[in-house]
Amino acid sequence: MSRIFSGIQSTGNLHLGNYLGAVRNWVQLQHDYECLFCVVDMHAITVWQDPAALKASTREVAAAMIASGVDAKKHIIFNQSQVPAHAELAWIFNCVARLGWLNRMTQFKDKAGKNRENASVGLYAYPNLMAADILLYKATHVPVGEDQKQHLELARDIAQKFNNDYGVEDFFPLPEPMIFGTATRVMSLKDGTKKMSKSDPSDLSRITMTDDADTIAKKIRKAKTDPEPLPDNAKGLEGRPEAANLLGIYAALSDTTLDETIAKFAGEGFGTFKQHLADLAVAKLDPIQGEMRRLMADIGHVDAVLKDGAERARAMAEPIIAEIKETVGFLNV
Ligand code: AMP
Ligand code: TRP
Repeated sequence: MSRIFSGIQSTGNLHLGNYLGAVRNWVQLQHDYECLFCVVDMHAITVWQDPAALKASTREVAAAMIASGVDAKKHIIFNQSQVPAHAELAWIFNCVARLGWLNRMTQFKDKAGKNRENASVGLYAYPNLMAADILLYKATHVPVGEDQKQHLELARDIAQKFNNDYGVEDFFPLPEPMIFGTATRVMSLKDGTKKMSKSDPSDLSRITMTDDADTIAKKIRKAKTDPEPLPDNAKGLEGRPEAANLLGIYAALSDTTLDETIAKFAGEGFGTFKQHLADLAVAKLDPIQGEMRRLMADIGHVDAVLKDGAERARAMAEPIIAEIKETVGFLNV
């Protein structure tokens, strides 16, 4: 049985990279897999979150999943903190994973920055909790953006070591990353060498799922470019990260390949191209954003979806965490 697990942190500023790199792909996958989609609020607090804003972001991410077309009845949408077994398994994995493995994680280095001594212990152990999310349900496939590949490899190493150490061959499956689509790494609108992120101090660097049409158009108009016209082949994008990013976003939003998009705009200036890109972005995002607004005005419905999802997730997790505790040797009297 193939089972999918994926997650998004409730850290605010849900953006186009989250949509194109993650949520949009989930909508396709739900036809062929049994899916759990999680708002990972426990991961969110690895960096400081204002408590009221955290609740609002959790609802916003859930609303985005629903508005994008995830079927919460057929599949499961829930927030991580409502299923305590995530934390229980994460502790066990803290004792399986090796310091040396975590020391190699580039996301920790990026997020902790220069002041590593002051980063939370949770930020360091973050990948162990992520492995717990996935393996608690014995998920086999994990659709994510490019940036999560290293964490997925760590989850596989943890699964393998647990299976070996406890002599339970094949207990945990080794989860496969699914990194696909044309937008596995959407870059900042202000710097084509940096990924679009929720935490970039510049709001102009990202298109968020709550931006209105004028704001989307303005951000695209102000996006960084270079002075050259657009190239007529992919080789011509070398050394032009901003052009590559904007064309990539167009390709993803229009469901065409990068080559087709390059052919369509070959020789054009950025002015004309940006106008087309803004129109397309607004046309594609507007229906989802409208639905998100409707859902955010009906918090009771979003909360009911999360509550129902959490109940079903707990029911799936309970026998598995019980077996894990038995395997580890925890006495249950
Ligand atoms: P996060 O916002 O870090 O919780 O990420 C949630 C999901 O969005 C993960 O699958 C990420 O890989 C994906 N993601 C985040 N940023 C980007 C980006 N700039 N481009 C593509 N995918 C992204
Ligand atoms: N670490 C992921 C991110 O920031 C979010 C996440 C947490 C996740 N747990 C997960 C993704 C489990 C996939 C599977 O993007």
